[in-house]
Amino acid sequence: MSAPLIIVGGGIAGLSTALAAAPAPVLLLNRARNSAGAASGMAQGGIAAPIGGGDTPQAHARDTCEAGSHHNDRTVVELLTGEAVAAVNWLQRQGVAFDRDAGGALQLGREGGHDRPRIVHAGGDATGAKVMEALVAAARRAPHIRRRTDVDVDGLLLHGGRACGVHALDADGNAEQIHGCAVVLATGGIGGLFARTSNPADADGNGLALALAAGAALRDIEFVQFHPTALALPGLHSLPLVTEALRGAGARLLDAEGHPLMDGVHPLADLAPRDVVARQVWQACRDGGTWLDARGIGTAFPARFPTVFGACMQHGIDPRLQPIPVAPAAHFHMGGIAVDADGRSSLPGLHAVGEVACNGVHGANRLASNSLLEGVVFGRRLGALLGALPDAGDMQGKCTLALRKSSLDVPRLASLRELMMQAMGPVRSGESLQAALQECSALAAQGWQGALAQVMLEAALRRTQSLGAHFRTD
Ligand code: SIN
Repeated sequence: MSAPLIIVGGGIAGLSTALAAAPAPVLLLNRARNSAGAASGMAQGGIAAPIGGGDTPQAHARDTCEAGSHHNDRTVVELLTGEAVAAVNWLQRQGVAFDRDAGGALQLGREGGHDRPRIVHAGGDATGAKVMEALVAAARRAPHIRRRTDVDVDGLLLHGGRACGVHALDADGNAEQIHGCAVVLATGGIGGLFARTSNPADADGNGLALALAAGAALRDIEFVQFHPTALALPGLHSLPLVTEALRGAGARLLDAEGHPLMDGVHPLADLAPRDVVARQVWQACRDGGTWLDARGIGTAFPARFPTVFGACMQHGIDPRLQPIPVAPAAHFHMGGIAVDADGRSSLPGLHAVGEVACNGVHGANRLASNSLLEGVVFGRRLGALLGALPDAGDMQGKCTLALRKSSLDVPRLASLRELMMQAMGPVRSGESLQAALQECSALAAQGWQGALAQVMLEAALRRTQSLGAHFRTD
């Protein structure tokens, strides 16, 4: 039997890659049980696609580049928006039931930075969960995919400068080497490295750390998107998201005095690009707090936004009756492992897809609801490419190991997260980045999260001009 394609990460990008690689054998390695650690399942807004009458891939591409401060790779953006409708159709074939209106047409929501309603959604604000449910079921049915859970990949196997497998630890800490014809990292983002995130804590940059240890090039890693409206729950690390689609449905941000926060700040007000809103909310939180007034949605709230409703009610907040306290949280990494449009990294045999990868599609700031889309479009593309490759042969026994460092202990990780939130948050300065870098040098020697934070801080210091989500006061 030929060596499998190894895919690390069981979110939407990893699953799309695995499914599209058929009939080539795939080994899908997941850190958590049942893809529970994947951020994809928490995505609320939906999937952007130019489906509505009069909409076009060009208009979608224009909004994508506008949000990305034109730091985007235009060719890759056109691939994304040109394939968006096909991606939605493919998801429907995998069993995703997107929400439809009474006449049977797909319902389209609106979010920040889009010039029109363009977002398909499922289960109201449960799109990520619904998509994951369908893809996990499809992967279970697929005879070419073998899934293993509770596997923590902590290194890559290299042979002659080529990735040929992974080094992994099982739930009991037993190490093993797993050989494959190629390796795909689909490990998600880095929100878990910040004190407040909308991601699961597991989205901690592990894939980036693996690529770094193996010498693969990273790109644009200073660009981190902060979602302006996570539910403000003091003391919690991973915060429930309060979807931007609420603002698309008319909800308004208020400051501590109850005044509209976004009036006069941007022509699109509450639907301004995410970085603009996040900076306003960041400042308003320092000045006394920020609230999202979604009372206008009224009695339809539980049916239209069941995920947000459930999270609020669980914490004693009835969003039909009172404004929701919100705060910015690390949400999405535009940067990542440098790859081309086919997911190839600078290290032969190593590929990356989804949030851990950077092919330039998001530029300096991702447009709302382009992330699940990216996972599907580039995952399918990469899967088809790798599935068609001739068998590279078995390199077992001839490999060297590129291991990442061990993990920081819990107190050190907590202080690193705080450091990153303050220095690499929505508002940055040379002085605070420099101070954080100094503090980080000890942590960089003690664990891989510190080493990764160090290269991110260095990248942010090198970019002296503000651009998109990288906003410098100096
Ligand atoms: C949201 O629902 O507000 C987030 C959607 C996204 O990150 O694209």
